[in-house]
Amino acid sequence: MTTAAILVAAGSGTRLGHDRPKALVALGGVPLLLHAARALAGSGCVSRVVVVAPAGHTAAVAGHFPDGVVPGSAVGVVLVPGGASRQASVAAGLAALDDDVDVVLVHDAARALATPALVRVVETAVRAGHAAVVPGLPVTDTIKEVGPADPAGAAPVRGTVDRTRLRAVQTPQGFVRATLEAAHAAGAARASDEARAATDDAGLCEALGVEVWVVPGEVDARKVTEPTDLALAELLLARRV
Ligand code: CTP
Ligand code: MG
Repeated sequence: MTTAAILVAAGSGTRLGHDRPKALVALGGVPLLLHAARALAGSGCVSRVVVVAPAGHTAAVAGHFPDGVVPGSAVGVVLVPGGASRQASVAAGLAALDDDVDVVLVHDAARALATPALVRVVETAVRAGHAAVVPGLPVTDTIKEVGPADPAGAAPVRGTVDRTRLRAVQTPQGFVRATLEAAHAAGAARASDEARAATDDAGLCEALGVEVWVVPGEVDARKVTEPTDLALAELLLARRV
């Protein structure tokens, strides 16, 4: 029984708008992917990390894992080049798992400040018998469903969603390995339009009819997407020390 993590770091970070892939952008002087890898290794429940690197930047990524381990730990790192979509990058990571792995955590490098405690909560829930587990936070905004926008960009409200039933989900997401592999195989086989509707691995499991469970998420696991998210992450990091 071994738990491995797939750390997806192969995106370009278009919305962040830096001169390098987002996972290599510094937060407190340390690249996002290294923060995320340390949290996975620091959880104590992850034996190996498969880092899915941006194509053309594998050497730069490898430089952050001297001796083939997550710095400060004995957790081994395997590097694989990513794909054109997040889903393809996760699939590349899945293909690199050793035979002894039975539980897989999929984590976004962009959620650099997710804590080791969150990693443990997700892994524990999978080991307790849930085949697919995601962290999620209650939604604080009021959510409206809208119709098509007019030329000025105004859209008519069609209804207000009951937000008490909603959760904004995060990573790491945890899975029984066979479940995640089946979900990815089915996702890859489906029409591309339909497959694109699943923006996370849990969505692929749902499409397969697998029951997905939500455990409490954390503010620190918020994704760095826009420049303001990076500024907020700097504040969260500064508050830790
Ligand atoms: N990701 C990946 N491979 C891709 C696309 C995304 O491994 N082809 C990873 C990113 O590196 C990130 C996570 O998936 O850690 C979430 O994706 P997102 O926040 O959208 O990151 P980017 O795709 O890099 O950003 P953008 O969409 O703004 O270009
Ligand atoms: Mg993206």
